[in-house]
Amino acid sequence: MTTAVIVGTQWGDEGKGKIVDLLTRDADFIVRFQGGNNAGHTLVVDGRKYIFHLIPSGILYEDKVCAIGNGVIIDPAVLLEEIDRLREMGRPVSGDQLLISEHAHLITAYHKVLDQAQEDGRSPKDKIGTTGRGIGPCYVDKVGRQGIRMGDILDEGLLRDKIAANLEEKNFLFTKKFGLSPLSFDEVFAPLMDQVEQLAPHIVNVSVVLDDARKQGRNILFEGAQGAQLDIDHGTYPYVTSSNTVAGNACTGSGFGPAHIDSVIGVIKAYTTRVGAGPLPTELTDEVGDQLQEKGGEFGATTGRRRRCGWLDGVVARDAVRINGITGLALTKLDVLSGQKTVRIATRYKCRDAVVTSMPARVSEIEAAQPEYIDVPGWSEDISGVRAFADLPRAAREYVRRIEEITGVEVTLVSVGPDRAQTMLLKNPFDEK
Ligand code: GDP
Ligand code: IMO
Ligand code: MG
Repeated sequence: MTTAVIVGTQWGDEGKGKIVDLLTRDADFIVRFQGGNNAGHTLVVDGRKYIFHLIPSGILYEDKVCAIGNGVIIDPAVLLEEIDRLREMGRPVSGDQLLISEHAHLITAYHKVLDQAQEDGRSPKDKIGTTGRGIGPCYVDKVGRQGIRMGDILDEGLLRDKIAANLEEKNFLFTKKFGLSPLSFDEVFAPLMDQVEQLAPHIVNVSVVLDDARKQGRNILFEGAQGAQLDIDHGTYPYVTSSNTVAGNACTGSGFGPAHIDSVIGVIKAYTTRVGAGPLPTELTDEVGDQLQEKGGEFGATTGRRRRCGWLDGVVARDAVRINGITGLALTKLDVLSGQKTVRIATRYKCRDAVVTSMPARVSEIEAAQPEYIDVPGWSEDISGVRAFADLPRAAREYVRRIEEITGVEVTLVSVGPDRAQTMLLKNPFDEK
């Protein structure tokens, strides 16, 4: 039995979906453990593109089991749409192949309305730029002990009571605070009744299933969403998402014991992107930023928004290594840097009179941070066809080595294009034991 956790090291969209799809080859179970359909994970296999928001990125392999853990929040309509789309493309997903935790919370219509109302109500400088998918309000209800869990939808009486109680409070906010129309009970309840029947065969205790799998010696891959700087505790608060995105949550968010985790792979994009508001110390607002955005196709996989771009940030990378316990880095989108005369990596920030080597806690401090860079010579070759590390241009190899020096962690995978095949797996986490 070997387990590996895949996490994002930056502000999301590092290419986690691609890496999870690739490593699924050697896994038996693939488990999402946090976030919801704010995530957009892209896979390209044989030139065909797939985007998953809730279903784990291992779903294209028919002999594997995908699981949605208790830490994920689920919009049932989105999940059913993903299941339907898979069926249409000839990949029907049975109850044995896709497991949904009975402990996972449900995103309902009122969470989405509230997310949008709160965002609209923020002044321009305070807007977070949420995905509008109801993520924050749903996690608030979970922690407030008034959420609805997947298991609850199998008990109609309980579901009715919970919706009624929640709506009373939410409608008070909608009408009195936000000047919106109230939602009716049926608007929330009726669609759920249609969805229950289709989702019921998938609902199980995921923790028990994973424990059995472990005892049977199966390999388990945990798939993180978002990235370290979007973590609710460790990220650039309040410009973060509402869950813990770090590797520790792979355990909490699936009911799996921490002593059984073997490795943590941090996915790191060769430069930095951020979608939504909040500080981005290495942001490039010049033509280099535009080049990275265009060449990297940096548009959000969930909302289609343009992603802000900047140089690679060693402060961010080291933060990610520390808070996740990263044992190997998967470097993605190295191909996008081809053609840059010089490539820069921030190593620390000058922050007013101090020099800082980890991300400051307060946004005002991050905004004052001046990154200090090292310059690495660029390379001009198209590297998207390279399949062996030794065949990369010398300067590209040098760039990889500098990342290892700055983070103190080995690069175990290099990705040079969106396709599954455009990857160099230097060390497979499932070979290690
Ligand atoms: P995720 O949220 O971390 O799974 O990442 P996204 O799917 O949101 O964004 C990553 C984007 O980069 C997707 O469009 C991928 O197809 C693409 N991608 C992944 N790896 C590479 C790579 O090595 N090179 C290039 N050019 N594109 C990549
Ligand atoms: P993946 O898994 C990039 C960002 C949003 C916003 C902030 C809060 O594809 O890497 P939320 O809707 O979660 O309350 O929004 O977090 N965000 C992401 N950015 N990739 C993601 O997921 C993201 N999920 C949320 O843009 O700034
Ligand atoms: Mg994404």
